[in-house]
Amino acid sequence: MSKIYADCNATTPLLKNVKDYLINSRLNGPFANPNSLHYLGNQLSQGIENCRKHLGKLLSIDDQKIVFNSGSSESIATAFWMTIGQVILNKSKKTHLVCSTIEHAAVIENALYWKKKGATIHWINVSSDGVVDLEQLKQIFKLHSAEISLVAIMAANNETGVIQPYEQIAKLCKENHIPYLCDTTQTIGKLDLAEELKEGVFLCVSGHKLGAPLGSGFLVLPFRDHYESLIKGGPQEQNYRAGTQNYLGIESMTVALDWHYQMIQAWNPLMQKKIQFENKILASITQAQIIGARSSRLANTSLISFKGIHSQGLQIELEARNIFVTTSAACSDNEPSTSKVLRSMGIQDDEGRSVIRISTGLELNLEHYDVIAESIISSFNHLEKIHFN
Ligand SMILES: Cc1ncc(COP(=O)(O)O)c(C=O)c1O
Repeated sequence: MSKIYADCNATTPLLKNVKDYLINSRLNGPFANPNSLHYLGNQLSQGIENCRKHLGKLLSIDDQKIVFNSGSSESIATAFWMTIGQVILNKSKKTHLVCSTIEHAAVIENALYWKKKGATIHWINVSSDGVVDLEQLKQIFKLHSAEISLVAIMAANNETGVIQPYEQIAKLCKENHIPYLCDTTQTIGKLDLAEELKEGVFLCVSGHKLGAPLGSGFLVLPFRDHYESLIKGGPQEQNYRAGTQNYLGIESMTVALDWHYQMIQAWNPLMQKKIQFENKILASITQAQIIGARSSRLANTSLISFKGIHSQGLQIELEARNIFVTTSAACSDNEPSTSKVLRSMGIQDDEGRSVIRISTGLELNLEHYDVIAESIISSFNHLEKIHFN
């Protein structure tokens, strides 16, 4: 049976368009350092500026706020460094941070790092449907708005696919003059960028979630202000990020994002097919539950629990059938416990240890959802027998 890859929230296969571009247009270069002053270097730096302009147009943002880098973990660490990091180093007063409990490790670990250096963190809880509590955020703003140097709340969760009220959060942050980092890693290319996010907000984009190579990405700065660069060295990226730019990564990511926005309507049939798939699982397996089912979710993501079996057993059974899924997020896949995101939603271990995440992309053959459903049902039936015998 041919391989079915359904782990796109972790990373995506290279898009066909990206492969064609690399093979047909870049196999023989130009190869040079984009910062070299000779003709070849100029060609590459011009290529990078063309990508910046194109991405700015695609997202309707000021292209001069785009800082190319290696991906979202770097963007997130940079946004923390530029805000709370500078506050702590300069011994200023705005030492408070606000984060939701369902953030990716890239956010949580930065918050905890700056906590060790003196920051106070306000954690925003989520409902059992996986949506952050806006009322709690408003209360924190009422009490502490003058002390907060960064709010970090994601646009959509990578495990559940639940979409967060980021437009309201951006509005609230702007009203209170508080910098907002919206982790848009899982929404760029899947949802149109909301008006509220087009300026005054830190955004992050990761090329490898969009069919471009690993190690490509960009940070969008809220303003064209002076920000202290995290990576020191040369004056690349208008002094916002030192280091020789990943030229092939930047061009590939631009090709990939362009393709995604041309194809944005294609998420609708994929969403329909995903709902059929989920309904088929629910109809065939009484223990199955779709996590976050009552919330708006990304078209490509299903997180399903199967009480009574262990997720890793199901993952291995599916892998034996050449279907590649994960148990929650790739980063926590080898932890046999309930993920922090699910615990935040009040999900107990008997359910939390029985989940698998199916996350697809626009190049998936929609009929593969039928194959995945059949395979899950027969794997579940097999595992359930082992468990209860
Ligand atoms: C929501 C979210 N934020 C941040 C990251 C980190 O992205 P990167 O792999 O580009 O560092 C990921 C990766 O899975 C993610 O899903």
